[in-house]
Amino acid sequence: MVARVNRQILLKSRPEGAPSLDNFALKQGSVPEPGDGEVLMRTHWLSLDPYMRGRMSAAKSYAKPVEVGATMVGGTVGEVVASRNPNFAVGDIAVGYGGWQDYAVASGSGLRKLNPAAAPVSTALGALGMPGMTAYAGLLEIGRPKSGETVAVAAASGAVGSVVGQIAKIKGCRAVGIAGGPDKCRFVVEELGFDACVDHRAGDFVGQLEAACPAGIDVYFENVGGAVQQAVWPLLNDFARVPVCGLISQYSATTPMPGPDMFSVLRKRLALRGFIVWDFAARQADFLRDMGEWVGGGHVKYREDVVEGLENAPAAFLGLLQGKNFGKLLVKVE
Ligand SMILES: NC(=O)c1ccc[n+]([C@@H]2O[C@H](COP(=O)([O-])OP(=O)(O)OC[C@H]3O[C@@H](n4cnc5c(N)ncnc54)[C@H](OP(=O)(O)O)[C@@H]3O)[C@@H](O)[C@H]2O)c1
Repeated sequence: MVARVNRQILLKSRPEGAPSLDNFALKQGSVPEPGDGEVLMRTHWLSLDPYMRGRMSAAKSYAKPVEVGATMVGGTVGEVVASRNPNFAVGDIAVGYGGWQDYAVASGSGLRKLNPAAAPVSTALGALGMPGMTAYAGLLEIGRPKSGETVAVAAASGAVGSVVGQIAKIKGCRAVGIAGGPDKCRFVVEELGFDACVDHRAGDFVGQLEAACPAGIDVYFENVGGAVQQAVWPLLNDFARVPVCGLISQYSATTPMPGPDMFSVLRKRLALRGFIVWDFAARQADFLRDMGEWVGGGHVKYREDVVEGLENAPAAFLGLLQGKNFGKLLVKVE
């Protein structure tokens, strides 16, 4: 049995602009006891995701903010170490929402049991989890890519973007990634099989993007906003679709970003639609079937960026907001 101390990372204060380590505090407490119908989960993997920046802020959003002094929220993969729920046995591995802590009590309703023989269990937080589902549903439901079209996606080496481009390839499209730096761009083309990848930090980014999209862009999967969005916009073809998934470059901005040219939305009859992954909850079974086959068959690859130790979660999360992660960012808790 491991030491029965529950380390928790709390939101200590709300950031103004970019968050810092001072916004987090580490607390050591006792391990909670599961009540009737509950299970106690030992966290093995913690997922760090961009949406957590929104939860640190009190601004109105689609989900409630974390209260100051409360444990940071987050997706986790863990092991059942005590169970008072007949559907879960000690030793079961499950994906849930345990937060930034060593142990969490769960009711069982938000937990999904995993089969460690089917895929590494950490993928339930990445390609086979919420980010993969975001890519699958956003691209197929809103982007509606057709064979021969060009699909562009930023943060292309990351958890969502990497899957978007690989599904675009499976659907017969030209996949063009945008990523920060030559190493990420090389990985996106050589390992993930995108047709091209352009470095948004390169001096001639706009010209390189135009050259990589000779037939324009039919689907722009929006992950970042800001300067990347402005470079993409003039390349959109008539009737292009823009699934608006995320705007990470703006999450810590203190002034609003200049908007896209809405006149071109009209003239080109563009379809833009914002979405939250769980709008498509009804497609989860399709997602798990298709992605299970694609990942298992090697048609979709994934890359994980693993940080050791719960105590390193705050610094790793700050790096995520600056592009320091390379692949799906996970914390190996135990
Ligand atoms: N709508 C939904 O339901 C939903 C669900 C999941 C995720 N999302 C969104 O999807 C996007 C990607 O999330 P993810 O989990 O896959 O993260 P990720 O791509 O694994 O990591 C974040 C990446 O964003 C890029 N980035 C950070 N700051 C940037 C900036 N200022 N300008 C341009 N790029 C920047 C960096 O990549 P580079 O170094 O390559 O630029 C960084 O590695 C985020 O916007 C997230 O909020 C939305």
